[in-house]
Amino acid sequence: MSNRRPLIAGNWKMYKTCEESVEAAQKLTSLVDGVTDTDIMIAPTFTSLFSVYGVVKGSRVDLGAQNLYWEEEGAFTGEISAGMLKSAGCSSVIIGHSERRQYFGETDETVNKKIKAALSCGLKTVFCIGESEAQRDLNLTFSVLDKQVQTGLKDFVSDDLRDLVVAYEPIWAIGTGKTATSEQAQEVHTFLRASIAKQFDEPLAQSIRILYGGSVKPGNIAELMSMHDIDGALVGGASLDAETFSQIVKF
Ligand code: 13P
Repeated sequence: MSNRRPLIAGNWKMYKTCEESVEAAQKLTSLVDGVTDTDIMIAPTFTSLFSVYGVVKGSRVDLGAQNLYWEEEGAFTGEISAGMLKSAGCSSVIIGHSERRQYFGETDETVNKKIKAALSCGLKTVFCIGESEAQRDLNLTFSVLDKQVQTGLKDFVSDDLRDLVVAYEPIWAIGTGKTATSEQAQEVHTFLRASIAKQFDEPLAQSIRILYGGSVKPGNIAELMSMHDIDGALVGGASLDAETFSQIVKF
């Protein structure tokens, strides 16, 4: 672990009704009440955001969304803007998750537009990147990640990126129970800092938080967090149960 403040974020994906979200948020806020040394964020579905905000407001838990659209408003049926997320109580947003890239056609270019909209609205942005199993097998991991970072963060200068968090989520580790080893994750995180230093500067590369995501559980979080360049986790399945997620938060 480093001197960067840890962040443990829960991505609830398309799980939980409003009632279930509120109940889980209530349990979580009381379980993590005493935690002061780690930032905590949960990202429920859009329909649960405002109700969950009523629960987490003033607590240790920040509210995040799982996506946004880059326009402020307009005739874009089914989409939601950064300003709308803020008005629902969000302080954070996840952008570019591999499931959005895989099932909803998101590209590095649209991810870049979304990051711009999020940051310019003052939302802390969790920017997701990661390689597939086939890309890893072909030794393309670093070139894939480098392109995702370069295009995803195109046109920014380092001062713009104070509220940016990078989440490295190898696609082969998501929901598979196959966690990257802490050494594999550390190797990639080191590479990502170098890539950010090259595109921006060394101070940003050293201060930016890089989370690991992919089958994080209470049983592997401490080992992952012992690595120098792993600053937290983006947790899917294990974030759905408040008790389990709170154990990860208290690694
Ligand atoms: P799992 O923790 O279920 O593998 O999901 C990781 C993830 O996609 C978080 O965004």
